[in-house]
Amino acid sequence: MWSILVWTGALVVIFITHWVYSWRNPKCNGKLPPGSMGLPLIGETLQFFSPNTSSDIPPFIKERMQRYGPVFRTSLVGRPVIISTDPDLNYFIFQQEGQLFQSWYPDTFTEIFGKQNVGSLHGFMYKYLKNLVLNLFGPENIKEELLPQVEQFAQKNLHLWSSLDSVELKEAFATMIFDLTANKLISYDSTKSRDNLRESFVAFIQGLISFPLDIPGTAYHKCLQGRKRAMKLLKEMLHERRAMLEKRKGRGDFFDYVLEELAKEGTILTEAIALDLMFVLLFASFETTSLALTLALKLLSDNPSVLNELTEEHEKILSSRENVDAGVTWKEYKSMTYTFQVINETVRLANIVPGIFRKSLREIQFKGYTIPTGWAVMVCPPAVHLNPAKYNDPIAFNPKRWEGMELNRATKNFMAFGGGMRFCVGTDFTKVQMAIFLHCLVTKYRWTTIKGGDIVRTPGLAFPNGYHVRISETHK
Ligand code: HEM
Ligand SMILES: *[C@@H]1O[C@H](CO)[C@@H](O)[C@H](O)[C@H]1NC(C)=O
Ligand SMILES: *[C@@H]1O[C@H](CO)[C@@H](O)[C@H](O)[C@H]1NC(C)=O
Repeated sequence: MWSILVWTGALVVIFITHWVYSWRNPKCNGKLPPGSMGLPLIGETLQFFSPNTSSDIPPFIKERMQRYGPVFRTSLVGRPVIISTDPDLNYFIFQQEGQLFQSWYPDTFTEIFGKQNVGSLHGFMYKYLKNLVLNLFGPENIKEELLPQVEQFAQKNLHLWSSLDSVELKEAFATMIFDLTANKLISYDSTKSRDNLRESFVAFIQGLISFPLDIPGTAYHKCLQGRKRAMKLLKEMLHERRAMLEKRKGRGDFFDYVLEELAKEGTILTEAIALDLMFVLLFASFETTSLALTLALKLLSDNPSVLNELTEEHEKILSSRENVDAGVTWKEYKSMTYTFQVINETVRLANIVPGIFRKSLREIQFKGYTIPTGWAVMVCPPAVHLNPAKYNDPIAFNPKRWEGMELNRATKNFMAFGGGMRFCVGTDFTKVQMAIFLHCLVTKYRWTTIKGGDIVRTPGLAFPNGYHVRISETHK
């Protein structure tokens, strides 16, 4: 009896030791990049997500770069991951999309964004969806349609905010951008609708970066519930539209387009894919751009000389117009040189996307290291954007550093919107929203900080106490 227990005990110990050993020393046909796999199962997940208030390269990354060099291994959310801060490897990863690497996000993300979201799709379906999105948010449509609409939304909201004692900018921007995007996608009007679509998204965001434990009470559970509610609303709206469409001609938004595509014979689009895409677009558009705009105002308020130069650029545009109240033209928009430098500098420092994930499809050799097949690879934009060898005094907000930067190939050193084939389809839309909002703001209003504006990174950017300001109209 005893000997059986002892034997079983010994076997369990051997098994566990072996398991822990192979956890720490993953199989590899060559030399793995250096690094630690952390604790069994959770790896270094907790260290990775640990909050920090610094604007520099996240301490998790910085410490490991110092200890191991620019490429190292770790384990996050149950997966072995290679983290790259090496410009050549980053470039290689982006160029090899679909060949040696493939877009990949942790299972929790696919659970949240849907198994058929753009990030998880490849090949033909992916190209099809990308074209769909570009039709709506690409440069052509911005020039023809979006520019005046963006200006109208900015003016309307600024006017409203200036009547309030205090505005929390992160929330205010999120609402403004959500309303604009939802209006373009599904003709959604928050003031007229009985369902509060955005509320589901708020619950959703709070749990987005959380430990994936799906039991009542956890942030992750609330997040999944939020997604469920939003998806249900979107589905109902789509069905409502289908019923209406038979009676009248479409309004030409994304819903109409989707219904038209779904009705085509032999179409590859399905309702589930279309709904997943709509969800991703609504989310991707307002969460990212609202963070960028909030940070822009915070940085401008901390750097009055930049704000002055920006204001000058926009006043010059007004003073060379025949009718000051005419809307911004495409030509004027294109002439906002300094504004685009401010935008580049803001998104460089914002590092809204702290990691871009891929999966290796084959064994890859790089500078003497081997990346095994099926491993996750994370490109780390903050390490690129805050590299003192490429950006002098990297933490300083200095838009002028972009002067003449177009000449040298900035792409290797700038990846706020990603790179290669999967470059962000919302880049132009983001830029037009930021530039036009800044135009409306600095030509007609000024703002004073009331409280907040502190940032924290987990490692994604957040404003834990918001950024509360008072906006007032300037009288000339
Ligand atoms: C400041 C604002 C934004 C930032 C920093 C940002 C950043 C990024 C990054 C880094 C990627 C690449 C992800 C990867 O390679 O895996 C990406 C992809 C994407 N973004 Fe954005 N984005 C922003 C705004 C937007 C907006 C406004 C939209 C919607 C209109 C949007 C829609 C998308 C979509 C659909 C993809 C996936 C593209 C693909 O997989 O090919 N983004 N974004
Ligand atoms: C942030 O990181 C720095 C550098 O590793 C560290 O000294 C600091 O204690 C961290 N914590 C917070 C809350 O910022
Ligand atoms: C902003 O960065 C992009 C990407 O590197 C670059 O192509 C563009 O010229 C930059 N804009 C300005 C105004 O420097």
